[in-house]
Amino acid sequence: MATLNGSAQPRIDTRVRIGSARLKNPLVAASGCYNRGAEFARVVDPAAYGAIVLKSITAQPRLGNAMPRVAPTPAGMLNAIGLQGPGIEYFLTHEAPALASAPTAIIASVAGFSVAEFAAVAARMDGLPNVVAIELDVSCPNVDREGECFAADPDSTAAVVAAVKERVSLPVIAKLTPNVADIKPIALAAQSAGADAVSLINAVRGMAVDVTAARPVLANVSGGLSGPAIRPIAVNAVWEAAKVLRIPIIGMGGIETGRDALEFLMAGATAVAIGTANFRDPLVPLRVLRDIEKEAERRKLSTVAALTGLAHPSFATKTGTR
Ligand SMILES: Cc1cc2nc3c(=O)[nH]c(=O)nc-3n(C[C@H](O)[C@H](O)[C@H](O)COP(=O)(O)O)c2cc1C
Repeated sequence: MATLNGSAQPRIDTRVRIGSARLKNPLVAASGCYNRGAEFARVVDPAAYGAIVLKSITAQPRLGNAMPRVAPTPAGMLNAIGLQGPGIEYFLTHEAPALASAPTAIIASVAGFSVAEFAAVAARMDGLPNVVAIELDVSCPNVDREGECFAADPDSTAAVVAAVKERVSLPVIAKLTPNVADIKPIALAAQSAGADAVSLINAVRGMAVDVTAARPVLANVSGGLSGPAIRPIAVNAVWEAAKVLRIPIIGMGGIETGRDALEFLMAGATAVAIGTANFRDPLVPLRVLRDIEKEAERRKLSTVAALTGLAHPSFATKTGTR
C-alpha cells in the first residue's frame, strides 16, 4: 500500500470543523466516486481522507440510466449514472453495518425527488456508526415542481434543508449545483434554513455528440461534467458563496494536486473533496495533503484551517467564524 514516507513531514494541525463534525484533515472523498473506499484499499489507505462521502442513497432502489452513461472529455468526464443504488432499506440491512469498521469518518449522502423523501431517508441515516454528517444532493429534480432541480431555487433548497434539520441531529450539508445564474441566494437560503455547511459544486451540465453515429454519446443525452475542466467554475462558485456565508464550504471540482486544493481553500473553502481524480490515480489524496501541509508550513501557519480565505477579501473581518 502506498504511503509518502521518506520525506520529513511538516508538523501542521490539519484538523477542520464542519459544523459539530471534526475531521482529522480537510480532504473528503466526493460522493459517487469512492463508495466506502474498499475498492481503493489495495492501492491506498482510504484513511488518507478526513472523511468519505457515500454514494447518494434514495428511498427506493434505482437501476440508474441506460448505458452508455459515462464518456471521457478533454480534461474531464461526463456521467449520467442516474443515482443507481439499492435504496435505503437494502442499504441499512446490508451495507450500513460495515460502517462500524470504516477507515475514517463517513458522511452519508441523501438524494430524493420530494421534500418528504429527503427527510425520511435522512432520518434513517442519523446515528449510523461513524457517520458524522449528512450531505443532501439537492441537484435532483423535484417532482412536486415539474421536475425543476431543487438547488435551482432558493425556496426548494430551503424546504429540503429545513425538513431534514427537523429530523436529524447530525450536521447537514447542502450540496449545490453550479447550473444556476447566481449561487449566492441559494447558498444563503440553505444557510438560513439551518444548513451547517454547503458543498460546492456538483457536476456541470454538459453533453457530447458521437458524430459517426450522429447521436448523443450518452443514452441520457446530457450528463454531468466533472474533472479539471470544471475547476475554474467551481473555484468561482466557492468565491461567490464565501462572500455571503458564515457556514463552512466544502469545495470540489477537478482537484488533482495540492495546488488545485489550495485554490479552493484560499477562495474560502474549509475542506476540499476529490472525485474524478480517484479513478485515474488513487494516490491523489496523499500528495494533496502533503502539499497543503507544506504550503501552510512555508507560510509559517500552524494550522491548515488558517489557509481558508487567504485570497478572499471577506475573510479579513471574518477570521475564525467558520
Ligand atoms: C461517476 C460520478 C458519480 C457521482 N455521483 C454523485 C452522487 O451520487 N451524489 C452527489 O452528490 N454527487 C455525485 N457526483 C458528483 C461528485 O461528487 C462531484 O461533486 C463532482 O464530480 C465534481 O468533483 P470532481 O471534479 O472532483 O469529480 C458524481 C460524480 C461522478 C463523476
